[in-house]
Amino acid sequence: MGNKTEETLLQQHRIDEFEIERRKALFGFGATDAAALLQARSCVLPALDAVVEAFYRQQTANEEIALIIGDSETMRRLHLAQRQYIDDLFSGIYDENYVNNRLRIGVVHKRIGVAPKYYLSAVGTLRRLSREQSIRTSPMQRMPRRQGQRSQSSSSSTPHWCSTPTSEA
Ligand code: HEM
Repeated sequence: MGNKTEETLLQQHRIDEFEIERRKALFGFGATDAAALLQARSCVLPALDAVVEAFYRQQTANEEIALIIGDSETMRRLHLAQRQYIDDLFSGIYDENYVNNRLRIGVVHKRIGVAPKYYLSAVGTLRRLSREQSIRTSPMQRMPRRQGQRSQSSSSSTPHWCSTPTSEA
């Protein structure tokens, strides 16, 4: 039997470029979605610190999660890791390197013993906070509303909060 330490996680899971493309197709994730994520990047990045702050404030309000995280040094490492995680989400590149990295993050949590219920609820929290904080930081949101302009709904599928404001010509 081969030694696992000689294989990447991608190799261990038999995931190659072709399999990644198949999975993207399975989820209906295409080039347009990747481009939309990359476009949203400029709106999300200014909100990054606020998102990460709010995320861990909320996470550590749960006693069991706070116990797993355990100490302030781990917390500091987590802040940096979470920043990078969100940044990578909006890179527009979802290739073998990205998938291998995500698999590694999964393995880390499995080893620590983070229950799926905590991980999945954290994903929901992260998604909500990213949207809320990005809207708050967005230049569109800070612009005074023009007469007759309807208020922006954060539940819309179009990220209009993320569009570049047009000049008031
Ligand atoms: C949205 C869900 C989550 C994301 C995106 C996330 C992201 C990450 C990342 C990127 C790392 C660094 C992995 C590495 O070392 O390469 C990490 C580590 C870790 N995560 Fe999470 N995490 C999530 C949920 C959770 C939850 C719910 C807990 C606790 C119940 C948790 C506890 C930890 C701990 C203790 C570490 C190790 C930190 C260290 O010692 O350096 N994570 N996480």
